[in-house]
Amino acid sequence: MRTQRRPKVTVVGAGFVGSTLAHWIVTRGCADVSLIDVQSDLAKGKALDLLQATAVGRFDVSVQGGNDYALCEGSDVVVVTAGLPRKPGMSRDDLLRKNAGIVSEVAQEVKTRAPDAVVIVVSNPLDAMCHVFLDKSGFPKERVLGMAGILDTARYKTFIAEATGTSIQDIQALVLGGHGDTMVPLSRFTTIGGVPLSQFLNEDIIHAIEQRTRDGGAEIVGLLKTGSAYYAPSICVYEMVESIIFDQRRVLPVSVLCNGEYGVDNLFVGLPIELGKEGLRRIIELDLTDDEKEKLNVSKEAVSQLVGALRSMKLIA
Ligand code: 2OP
Repeated sequence: MRTQRRPKVTVVGAGFVGSTLAHWIVTRGCADVSLIDVQSDLAKGKALDLLQATAVGRFDVSVQGGNDYALCEGSDVVVVTAGLPRKPGMSRDDLLRKNAGIVSEVAQEVKTRAPDAVVIVVSNPLDAMCHVFLDKSGFPKERVLGMAGILDTARYKTFIAEATGTSIQDIQALVLGGHGDTMVPLSRFTTIGGVPLSQFLNEDIIHAIEQRTRDGGAEIVGLLKTGSAYYAPSICVYEMVESIIFDQRRVLPVSVLCNGEYGVDNLFVGLPIELGKEGLRRIIELDLTDDEKEKLNVSKEAVSQLVGALRSMKLIA
C-alpha cells in the first residue's frame, strides 16, 4: 500500500499543457505526480525526465508516467488536459465532438480509479467538456471544475499592466462567463492596488483590452501556428491545484455547474468561487448591473448551445 506522505495529482494528457503543469507541480515540490497519456512512452519519457530533474532541483516528489489508469489511484486531484488542441482558424467549438469522446473515456476511467478526486477539466471547449466529465463520471458538481476564468483573467491583467505600466502584482481583476468569444471581463471589479481601473485608463482603451482578452487564446494559436498556449494555462491550473491540496480557499473564477446562481440553471459557466480541498465550497454572487447581466446571459447562451449540441449528438444525457 502506498504511504501517502504528499498529496497526489494525476495529469491526464502529456501534451504541452499537461507536461508543463507537471513541471510546475514538481518544481514546487508540493505533490507526487502521475502523468497519463494514450501514448504511453511519451508520458513515461516526460515523467522520467522530470524525475531526473528532481535530483538537481532537490524536489522531494515522485513522478510516474504511462498509459495505465491504475497510475491515478489515490489521487487527490485529477487534471484532464487530454484532447486535441486548436489549430489556426479553428474555434474552440470545432473541437466539440472529437474532444467529447476523449473526455468521456477519461471520465469513465477516473470514476473507477480515483472516485474521491477533485477533477479539473482543461480540455476545450472548456465549459462543454465539464458537462461531459460530470455526465460520464457521475461525480458531484463540487468536484468537477473547469479552468478557464483564471487564464482569461491572467490575460486581462497582463494587457492592463502593459497599458498602465503598473506592476502586474497589484492588479486584481475578474473575467466571468464561458471560455470563448463571449467571456465577460468585468472592469467594474478590476482595480490596481485597490484603485478602480477607470482612474488609469479611458473606456476606449479598456474596451480594446477586453477584446484582446477575448481573443487571447486565438492570438497565441495564430503565433504558434501549431498548438495553443500552455505556459499560462498550466500555471493557472497549478493555482487551482494548490488551493485544493492545501485547502487554501482561494477566491478564483472557475467554471462550475450552476443551480440557479446568476439566473443560470444546470449549466457550467465561469463564476467567482471559493476553492478548497473538497472542491467547490461556494459560488460567490455579485451584484451585477443590467449590462453585465446581459453580457453574462449572452455567454451563458453560447455554452448552452454547445451543451444542446452534445445532447443532440447523444454525447451526454
Ligand atoms: C486558451 O485560451 C487553449 O483555451 C486555451 O489558450
